[in-house]
Amino acid sequence: LFSAVEMAPRDPILGLNEQFGADTNPAKVNLGVGVYYDDNGKLPLLKCVIEAERQMFEAPKARGYLPIDGIAAYDKAVQGLVFGADSAVVTGGRVATVQAIGGTGGLKIGADFLKKVNPNATVLISDPSWENHRALFTNAGFTVGTYPYYDAENKGINFAGMIDALRAADAGTVLVLHACCHNPTGYDITDAQWDEVVAVIKERNLVAFLDMAYQGFGEGIAEDGAVIQKFVAAGLDFFVSTSFSKSFSLYGERVGGLSVVCASKEECARVLSQLKITIRTNYSNPPTHGAQVVATVLNTPALRAMWEEELAGMRVRIKQMRVLLVDKLTAAGVKGDLSFITRQKGMFSYSGLNKDQMVRLRGEFGVYGVDSGRICVAALNTKNIDYVADAIVKVM
Ligand code: LMR
Repeated sequence: LFSAVEMAPRDPILGLNEQFGADTNPAKVNLGVGVYYDDNGKLPLLKCVIEAERQMFEAPKARGYLPIDGIAAYDKAVQGLVFGADSAVVTGGRVATVQAIGGTGGLKIGADFLKKVNPNATVLISDPSWENHRALFTNAGFTVGTYPYYDAENKGINFAGMIDALRAADAGTVLVLHACCHNPTGYDITDAQWDEVVAVIKERNLVAFLDMAYQGFGEGIAEDGAVIQKFVAAGLDFFVSTSFSKSFSLYGERVGGLSVVCASKEECARVLSQLKITIRTNYSNPPTHGAQVVATVLNTPALRAMWEEELAGMRVRIKQMRVLLVDKLTAAGVKGDLSFITRQKGMFSYSGLNKDQMVRLRGEFGVYGVDSGRICVAALNTKNIDYVADAIVKVM
């Protein structure tokens, strides 16, 4: 049965973790996967999470099956965070939100549902995009193309190319957009450019699918979520996938969601019923623990305030690492304008290093980044940054 099965290539991001684990270099640094580590190189366990878990421990609950769409209080909290609790689409019952197994789960539920309602559509992702976007939408049965995004020469965004591609797209084309902290480049389009994108989506009848895995890591929770309001204000039907992996440091709990904004409450009920079928036929219903933690934090004012402060701490430290990286590279003699590193937002920096240089960084120095040149700035700290900067300079 399996004699003709071919060996699949290793995952370009998660596969690096396996290689990193096996590396015996004591100075090794993992800047591959998008995970935030504190200044001591430790994965944080947030205080708000510990406190929520303490409360849950003190009032233990039996673990029955959750509803197919997850914990109601969790779904409500996701809507509050993404759209604002008082948003007319939320109060008007026009958003179908389901708990999902991480942000990837949200994307997958949305992709499977889209394949039912829009089977012949092409999906366009940014060039480049998160490595898994292409694979996920391809596996859902779509033909996946790209729209221009990264401008290597000017270290920024080729917005003219992007908007032209959107204008040329057929009606019904699904556009995967990064709501904030673009993965992998770190370059986000401006407020005014978002207005243009929304206008073209409306004019051309495109379908927006916003991946919001990093809300709070760019400029702030509300600031990063502001783009959603533009889609709401334009009266569009659209998708938003949410992840709490990074913002709650709950990677292994797989806590995410999918929200679909619909034209009416009645339409929303039908959409929700279909999302539930997608979930039921994939994994039946979601797990309890992580979503209960997040719901407890988001729905308890004191814990929510604690979370916002902890998330701000992560955001600020990442920005400090960007500044420090520029300082260290400059001090080591790197010529040219490095300000692109501090202009980028979120966990990643598209370093401009090529595949050969990334391979050398791994092989000669044990510094792991993605072959595309993406490095996770959120894993830099005051102890490893000299070593990393030195290694980068040596491969340049
Ligand atoms: C990343 O881009 O590194 C993260 O989103 C983790 C992942 O699943 O790839």
